[in-house]
Amino acid sequence: AVPAGPVVQDTFLCVKPDGVERGLIGEMIVRFERKGLQLVGMKMITPSRSLIETHYAEHRGKGFFNGICEYMSGHPVVAMVWRGVDAISVCRTVIGATNPTKAAMGTIRGDFGMQTGRNLIHGSDGPESAAREIGLWFRPEEITPASVVPCINKWLYE
Ligand code: PPS
Repeated sequence: AVPAGPVVQDTFLCVKPDGVERGLIGEMIVRFERKGLQLVGMKMITPSRSLIETHYAEHRGKGFFNGICEYMSGHPVVAMVWRGVDAISVCRTVIGATNPTKAAMGTIRGDFGMQTGRNLIHGSDGPESAAREIGLWFRPEEITPASVVPCINKWLYE
């Protein structure tokens, strides 16, 4: 079998309204940058209820669905696309567990959060959701192509 090479992935992250209003945008971005991930798309937008309902469509019908839609719509958020080898799981590790009271210290949610309903930042949970979410929040031309700014360099990856 041919050994699998490094898999470069794009993932969708969104600084939620609490992260924006608490002044933690830079604090979050610096953690992904210094880890070695590359920022390839970013915009601040105030999402409509319909965008948030589409984003969280798989959770429609769950008890928290209305609460998360109220929390996430009508306030500014920072939507981002980050790139790197295994970027989806690396970003989830930097973010920490869904419930900030259980998240490890040193993660964003562990360091800054107190409740699941105010957990500061969203990160895609797999390749399918990453592709779907990037397509929902960004037009293709808003994402830097890998050919323009390579995310692999010899001091990050051997
Ligand atoms: S599930 O039911 O296991 O699929 O849910 P989970 O993957 O843990 O979470 C899905 C998203 O919903 C958010 N969530 C909540 N928000 C507010 N209140 C409560 N109680 C709650 N429970 C889950 C959770 O943070 C996930 O959103 P993102 O944006 O991906 O973090």
